[in-house]
Amino acid sequence: MDSLQIIADEIAACTKCELCKGRTNTVPGEGSVQAKILFIGEGPGAQEDKQGRPFVGRSGKLLREMIREVGWKEEDVFIANVVKCRPPGNRDPKPEEIATCQSYLNRQIALIDPKIIVTLGRHAMGRELPEMKISQVHGKVFRRKNGRYFVPLYHPAVALYSPAQKVTLMKDMKKLAKFISQL
Ligand code: URA
Repeated sequence: MDSLQIIADEIAACTKCELCKGRTNTVPGEGSVQAKILFIGEGPGAQEDKQGRPFVGRSGKLLREMIREVGWKEEDVFIANVVKCRPPGNRDPKPEEIATCQSYLNRQIALIDPKIIVTLGRHAMGRELPEMKISQVHGKVFRRKNGRYFVPLYHPAVALYSPAQKVTLMKDMKKLAKFISQL
């Protein structure tokens, strides 16, 4: 039977794409298997690569602060990325790298079975809404046929450099928290 640990062990040994060559640590994701909310970011940065944990750098600090501010606890969320190894120089993950890595994320989603998937930034959104512009759909709730909800948000890294985007992200996050509390 599959488990988050089995998936993390497979990721740790993965050499399916070029990204394995530059990594220090793989970053499978972290959180509870019972999480109702799954956050999906883009890919590990320098700090994440060093520590093997997602969202532990500057944008991660902001994300975790926002998660706390809307009242969610660690056990309510799982935090993952579309690619599990750091793209060199923090470049965008390539479509073929996302495609190669996608089975790990799909297996994590199948196990966790979250009520809501929250994507951070356009690369993670591309999984669900490939033709949409994030500026048009951020903060909107999409209901999927399988009963799961999907919500695209701006990436917290953008909010670090733009006070206006930070306000928007926080507003979207609060709206999302309200929606979840009413489910
Ligand atoms: N940005 C991401 O998209 N993911 C991380 O884990 C860290 C920064």
